[in-house]
Amino acid sequence: MELVSPVRRGVKSDASSIAQRVAARLAGDASVEPLVSRYFSRQDFEQALAHSTSPVWVDDSHGRLRGHLYGATLDDAVNGRQTWTGPDGYSYEFENVLDNLCEWAYRAWRDDGSIAHLVWALAGNGTQDWVERGYAMVSVRGSLALEGPFEHTWPEGYHLRRGDPSDLGTALAFDALIDEAQGVALDSLSEFQREQNESDLAELLGDPESHYHLVEVNGRPAAQCVTFPLPPLRGSHDDTIYLGSLAVDPSQRRRGLASTLVRAVLDDAVADGFRFAEVRWHIDNEGATSFWPAQGFRPTYVQLRRSLVPEAQDT
Ligand SMILES: CC(C)(COP(=O)(O)OP(=O)(O)OC[C@H]1O[C@@H](n2cnc3c(N)ncnc32)[C@H](O)[C@@H]1OP(=O)(O)O)[C@@H](O)C(=O)NCCC(=O)NCCS
Repeated sequence: MELVSPVRRGVKSDASSIAQRVAARLAGDASVEPLVSRYFSRQDFEQALAHSTSPVWVDDSHGRLRGHLYGATLDDAVNGRQTWTGPDGYSYEFENVLDNLCEWAYRAWRDDGSIAHLVWALAGNGTQDWVERGYAMVSVRGSLALEGPFEHTWPEGYHLRRGDPSDLGTALAFDALIDEAQGVALDSLSEFQREQNESDLAELLGDPESHYHLVEVNGRPAAQCVTFPLPPLRGSHDDTIYLGSLAVDPSQRRRGLASTLVRAVLDDAVADGFRFAEVRWHIDNEGATSFWPAQGFRPTYVQLRRSLVPEAQDT
């Protein structure tokens, strides 16, 4: 007798059960890691699901949902076409439910031209099942509850100022250092990607919501960091400031410069009413992997990646 798979494409009437499963998942994540927010609007989620153009796969056991898997397939200028799943994009009661869901979803994603699947899983316990299915960790989301003040003193000759669009050249040079630390070979970027990076950076420097923090030592750029209020993000608390693009000139490293800059920035953030800070780092960036936990940041979610095509085609 041929076994009929319990997996099918989700339909409108599944939205409420899926939302219930997601709410339970997030509450579970938040009880393991309080830096994860359990906030979840079922109504907004159901609406987003109804309007999504990508399918959601559900495991339906005689009318009872035992899991779901959703991925948005998007083109990425650097990595090609990939499928992305957030912390609310999946749930499963048993591992074989996950296997069934993946089998169906992979087929559909491949047909849609996707070369890889990226998924956010709760740091620690949440990653194991994905690792066992051939996923490799790519990057980490880390958070810190802001209980200031963050005391700091600048040594003689150090000066922190707010940068502006006229600092684009400096920002580009620091960005190249970050790419290098993340294993992106600069000559691997196409002219288009380089122009894209430059226009993204120019936009960031001109954005009134973002702050560009620049440290100069005796008048020369020595370190930078960008901050902005984190837009609503599944699993993140409200009033979170995002810290990104942290970089220190190689000649100034391991002297506490990045630590002092981060403390100065967090001190301002507390004064501005932020309650949490969030960062991201690549798993193979050794400096960042040691630096952020040393500042008190704790991993919340880990992004994992699995190729959907034979390795040779996965650029
Ligand atoms: C990561 C980076 C910003 C750290 O700047 P820094 O001014 O050297 O950092 P600090 O001196 O304040 O370091 C504080 C602590 O972080 C850890 N740390 C920092 N750099 C480290 C490294 N390369 N390897 C291991 N641990 C490191 C150490 O615990 C260090 O304390 P210690 O020096 O007493 O051992 C800097 O190496 C850099 O610009 N790297 C390239 C860009 C980058 O990767 N940015 C992060 C993107 S997420």
